[in-house]
Amino acid sequence: MADTQEQIVTVGVTGASGAILAQKTLVLLEEDPRVAGVHLVVSEAGQRLLTEELGITSGDIKQLPSRILGHPVAKIDVLPNKDVGASIASGSYVVDAMVVIPCSMGALGAIAHGISDDLVSRAADVMLKEGRKLVLCVRDTPVSRVHLENMLRAQQAGAVIMPAVPAFYHHPKTIDDLVTQYVCRVLAQMGLAQDKMYRWMGTPASKKAEA
Ligand SMILES: Cc1cc2nc3c(=O)[nH]c(=O)nc-3n(C[C@H](O)[C@H](O)[C@H](O)COP(=O)(O)O)c2cc1C
Repeated sequence: MADTQEQIVTVGVTGASGAILAQKTLVLLEEDPRVAGVHLVVSEAGQRLLTEELGITSGDIKQLPSRILGHPVAKIDVLPNKDVGASIASGSYVVDAMVVIPCSMGALGAIAHGISDDLVSRAADVMLKEGRKLVLCVRDTPVSRVHLENMLRAQQAGAVIMPAVPAFYHHPKTIDDLVTQYVCRVLAQMGLAQDKMYRWMGTPASKKAEA
């Protein structure tokens, strides 16, 4: 693991398919000793996807992290998406890295065009203007020209575009294997490389050819 200490991170969850990716991200961040705090912001559609895909119902918003993880949490606090005056809406409040996971094409469009009318898009806007790490785990398929142009625009503004596409080279046996490897790659982008991330070292054949 990298030796980064005491990171503050923001996790935005929007209404694209892949609520399980948000859940795994929060599990790994909660467990990570390098992480001091996690600000969680869930859009209305993001909450709907948590319910549709994981059966996690809305209710007292403060209890949402423990409902997502299935046990009490120590580091994750929830900020309402409508609260554009929350700490993370200002560049003077230091957040080390932010991920939007999953990131809807709507949220991508808002971020790519600086439309900061909710906390997810404003917090992302702040990360870009402050030159801080922002990872967008976009998901939809197929993608339109609008989506592609928005990805390019966000990437050129400093975001990392990390489509929610699993890898297979680590021979996954379960959905959790697919999800964990993807989320580990996302966390590595945020400066929080995980020991459990599979690292491709080349095939025996290509190694022989190198010798
Ligand atoms: C079950 C379900 C699945 C969806 N999947 C996607 C998706 O994979 N990608 C996407 O961009 N939008 C998807 N949407 C549409 C978004 O939720 C919708 O555009 C929403 O307005 C996004 O709002 P948000 O960005 O504020 O979360 C889905 C909606 C539902 C109800």
